[in-house]
Formats: sequence, C-alpha cells, structure tokens
Amino acid sequence: MALEFQLNRPDPSAAEVDCVVVGVYADASLSPAAQALDSASGGRIAALAARGDVSGKTGRTTLLQDLAGVKSPRVLTVGLGDKAKFAVPQYLKAIADAVRALRTGPVKSALFTLTELPVKGRDVAWALRQAAVTADHAAYEYTATRSKAAEVSLNSVSFPADAGLVRELERGIAIAAGVQLARELGNLPPNICNPGYLAAQAEGIATQFDNVSCEVLEREQMEQLGMGSLLAVARGSANPPKLIVLRYTGAGDAKPFAMVGKGITFDTGGINLKTQGGIEEMKFDMLGAASVLGAFLAAVRMQLPINLVCVVAAVENMPDADAYRPSDILTSMSGKTIEVGNTDAEGRLILCDALTYTQRFEPQAIVDVATLTGACVIALGKYAHGLFSKHDDLAGELSNAGEAVFDRAWRLPVWDEYQTMIESAFADIYNIGGKGAGAITAACFLSRFTEGQRWAHLDIAGTSWDEGRKGMANGRPVGLLSQWLLDRSAG
Ligand code: BES
Ligand code: MN
Ligand code: ZN
Repeated sequence: MALEFQLNRPDPSAAEVDCVVVGVYADASLSPAAQALDSASGGRIAALAARGDVSGKTGRTTLLQDLAGVKSPRVLTVGLGDKAKFAVPQYLKAIADAVRALRTGPVKSALFTLTELPVKGRDVAWALRQAAVTADHAAYEYTATRSKAAEVSLNSVSFPADAGLVRELERGIAIAAGVQLARELGNLPPNICNPGYLAAQAEGIATQFDNVSCEVLEREQMEQLGMGSLLAVARGSANPPKLIVLRYTGAGDAKPFAMVGKGITFDTGGINLKTQGGIEEMKFDMLGAASVLGAFLAAVRMQLPINLVCVVAAVENMPDADAYRPSDILTSMSGKTIEVGNTDAEGRLILCDALTYTQRFEPQAIVDVATLTGACVIALGKYAHGLFSKHDDLAGELSNAGEAVFDRAWRLPVWDEYQTMIESAFADIYNIGGKGAGAITAACFLSRFTEGQRWAHLDIAGTSWDEGRKGMANGRPVGLLSQWLLDRSAG
C-alpha cells in the first residue's frame, strides 16, 4: 500500500490530523512549526527540550500527547542533529525516522512540517519530491507472501506547501511508485517472480497508459533474431526466457532514451554452480530489470515530454542436462562469437543481445542496469553504484542525477587496456577477465556490443538490496534514473 499525500498549509496548532511532526535541532532550537506549537502550548516543547525529554539528537523521536492549545492529539518531535550540518542526508533521514516512529499506529494521518526546513543547495520542489519518495519508502511493508495482516496503519501524510507545488508532489508520488514497484518485484521469491511474471507486469503497465506499448519476444522470435548468447543462458531453465520491450511516446518522433535491465530471476551460477555462498540472495539478480521498470513507470506517471524504451532480458540461470557449459562458443545477435569461461558470468551474456536489439530504436542514449559483478561490491561496497561510460557527458548526467537525489554512483574506467583481459583463442571474446578488475572487464565486455552508441552501464550488485537474511530490495537506482529522465525532459 502506498501512502497518500496532500498539500495543506494549516496553522500547525489548528491542524486536524492525528499527529503533527516537527523538528528540533541538537542545540534544542526549534523548527518554525515547533516554535508555533511551543507558543500555542505556553512554552511546553521548549521546556521539555530544556530538561532533556525532547531530544534534538539525530535519530531521536519523541511523541508528545495532548499538548494544551494544540488541536492534534499528538506531536512528534524529530531530532535533526547539528543545525550547521543539516543537509541532504540529514533531511532524508529525518523524514524516514518520523515515518518509522509512526508507521504502526495509532496515527493514520500526519502533517509533516519538515519540508519547510532549509536544506543547503536544494529548493522546495526538491524537498517535496524527496519527502514523498522517502516517506513512502519508509512506510513500505512486504506482505505478498506472508499470512499475517499488514502492520502499517499510517496512510495519509500532508506537507505544508502552496497548491502551486502540487506538480512537484505528484512527481514525488510517481517516483515513489516506481521505487515501490522495483522493491516489490525484487522481494518476491523466484518461484513467483520468474521471466513470465516480469513480462506480465510489463504488459500490466502498458494497459494502464494510452501512450505505452509492450511487446514480449518469445524464444522462437529470439532464435530468429540470432540471440544465441541470451538463449544459451536460458537453456538450463524450465522457465522460458522473455525479452520485454516497453515503449513510451511522450515527445512525438524524438529519439528515445533507452534503459536496459538484467533480469536474471534466479542465478544459480549454472554449471559453475555458486558453491561459495550467496546463492540464497540471487533472487535479487533481477534488480536491474526491476529498477528500469520502476524508472519507466515513474517517467510515464510523470508524463515526461520524452520518448523512452525499456528493454528487459528476463532469464533464469540453472544447471541442467541441457544447460550451456564452460568452453561452449556462442554466437550473439551482433555476430560476435563468445567463449564461455564461466556460466556464472551470465549477466553480460543476456545483456549483450539485449543491447544489440535496443540499437534498432536509434536511442540518443542507452543506460543498462545490472547486478553484474561481485567485484563491484568489493570495489565500492553498498553506497555507490558502479558507473561506467566512455562518454564523459553521459557519465556526468548520471552522476549528477544520483547526487541530486542521494542515490549516488561512482565512475570506474572502461579503458581499452582492460580489453586485452577478455581475449579468447577460440572466439571473438571471452566472457570473463582475469583475477583483477572484475567489474571493469564486465563493463568492457558490454562495451563491445555498444560500439558507436552513447552508452553507460550501472553495476548495482552492492547497492540494490540490503544485506542479511531479512534484507530487502531498496529501490535503488530508481531515484537516480528517474532524476536523470526528469533532467533530460527539462531540456
Ligand atoms: N549476479 C552475479 C553478481 C553478484 C554477485 C551480484 C554477488 C551480487 C552479489 C553475477 O552473475 C556473477 O555471478 N558474477 C560473477 C562473475 C565471475 C564469474 C566472472 C562474480 O561476480 O563472481
Ligand atoms: Mn552469475
Ligand atoms: Zn548474475
């Protein structure tokens, strides 16, 4: 269930909601809305802060009840930390902390005044969009395959802004829906979310909008196109592969932006079975696909004035009597032959054919997104996506978009020198590199299928889900991609 959002600018002490959320800085100074409630209640909030019952420390929230002179029965104070250090991450954390404090009730409706806080380098349009995205993220609950009733009861959040900003709020809601779609698809188990399920989801999106169409290519069509690399990976699975193509027309005959996603719905490693641990997390190996679908949905819901193509290679990588094997030689759609060094380096094998196919749309830029390498997790950990491009301008656009919404990427090189690491004696290319630079050699492999294109690659292996047994898909990089498209549509 998504949170509902409204714009409403009442006097905080007169707001008819179950709770008013206000900020307090570490030095006990109050946000403007907290000051208003403090005056209405005869100085109660300041008094509680002075004696330490209300804390302004980061991460601390306090629920105050039945303040005299305040119509709402509850006021939640949120610690904002040091006023001088209050910036983007602190703002986003304050919103999420407030939602986490309230999400399981009894509060159903709340007025979040935190959007009025000044955030360095950001305007109120940004503050509203990010508040909606962040609040919805913090209220997310996975229920699809659990018997117990949903726990989240908070359902309505209002922000104090003028009606003129409603478009920005709606953009935030659109992006939140994209984030939620990506998370939900990622969290579903691989026995439900298989290639056919992803295809059905994409078709479901297309039916909701007049200017979206969906085409799903089946195995036979992919055979006719010569997608020998993608189809080799699919051979071991009882779940047939799907190549999902979504198109959105928001700008007549302009050249489209293209997003391509790795949709391995489960990665066993194939004949090179994953025996060193981590296999149980490999339902998340479709988060590239989930995030391009999420960003596509966000862009369409925003009705951005651009054209967009989204191509998802949805395949399961299984060992089987009919599975592809190390040392097989595959012929890709591009005509290039590939020697399989390792069947667990399957992501690049499905992406190369998807990238070749995407070029028929003559895109002005192609961004592929993939949980591609364990090496990227070693290099950058869980905070930065790996960003790879030979095009400084495109790399800059993506990097700036990630910075804007705190969904950040960090660039690694795709220099020609690394290409020697994926040479083969028996084919045009080998599907693995040597010991070092595994994230880079994977990007180099993809670069051989995007020659002449304005192309970038995001490796999200370390960033797109939270680690651990209860770890969930976190929706990244839907924020980055949505912002990138929003920026492109602005000119
Ligand atoms: N899906 C994995 C990459 C991965 C590993 C993502 C860990 C998230 C966490 C990918 O298909 C894979 O297995 N890559 C291999 C490549 C190697 C065989 C060259 C890897 O990274 O070990
Ligand atoms: Mn693999
Ligand atoms: Zn994989």
